[in-house]
Amino acid sequence: MSKKIVLKIGGSLLFDKEYNIMHEKIVKFAEIIKDSDDIVAIIIGGGKLARNFINSARDLGANESLCDTFGIEVSRLNARLLITALKDLAYPDPITSLKDVRSFSLWNRILVAGGFIPGQSTTSVTFEIAESLDATDVIILTNVDGIYDKDPNKNLKAKKFDEISILDLEKVIYGETGNSQSAAGEYRIFDAVSLQILKRSHIQVRLSNGEDFKTLRKLLVDKAYESNIGTKILRNP
Ligand code: UTP
Repeated sequence: MSKKIVLKIGGSLLFDKEYNIMHEKIVKFAEIIKDSDDIVAIIIGGGKLARNFINSARDLGANESLCDTFGIEVSRLNARLLITALKDLAYPDPITSLKDVRSFSLWNRILVAGGFIPGQSTTSVTFEIAESLDATDVIILTNVDGIYDKDPNKNLKAKKFDEISILDLEKVIYGETGNSQSAAGEYRIFDAVSLQILKRSHIQVRLSNGEDFKTLRKLLVDKAYESNIGTKILRNP
């Protein structure tokens, strides 16, 4: 059976330490996407620039909903950059709602989106679009190799999971506290909406490193779908 993949590119993959857009990375993503047959939609995060705007807005007295709106706007700008690099392969404007997903998918171009509405992350958008398009797979690209038992950026002894069940994933995300609250700009890798759709759908999910273009090509172009690249999420029996 052929795959229908929805790809999420974390915003952290697009900016350097000085908040400059890493143009050459967008070109590399576009090359791999062009060579892959299975990608139907791509969602881009807001990255550091979104967090910068969100923090400024919060300091100016914005409520969380308005802060989220800044994140959404920045992610849509990032989406427009990728569309520019993909040229005719992509639908020419960032997708902003599920209604547009349904209508514009009839054009048979790759749909590219940033955020949709306040109160969620671009990972939620990824799952919302995947469910709406009957996608078989979601691949989430971040700046680490997969899901770890602890934050790998803070803990050298963090251990990567090759596979993890949804149940264990929830334990890793929410820890012992069970706290699922998130402020604008601080949604975890899976927030409440994305977890909900993950649980009720049949979508296969994998997290992988979006900085390792060789491995990414192996996954998306050479279709190494059965490999141990990144972390695969196992559906509970
Ligand atoms: P994300 O936090 O999802 O982007 O969106 P990101 O930079 O890719 O995150 P990482 O790299 O996966 O960690 C940026 C911000 O935009 C708002 C939220 O405030 C979010 O933190 N947003 C995004 C929404 O409010 N609604 C959406 O549908 C998407």
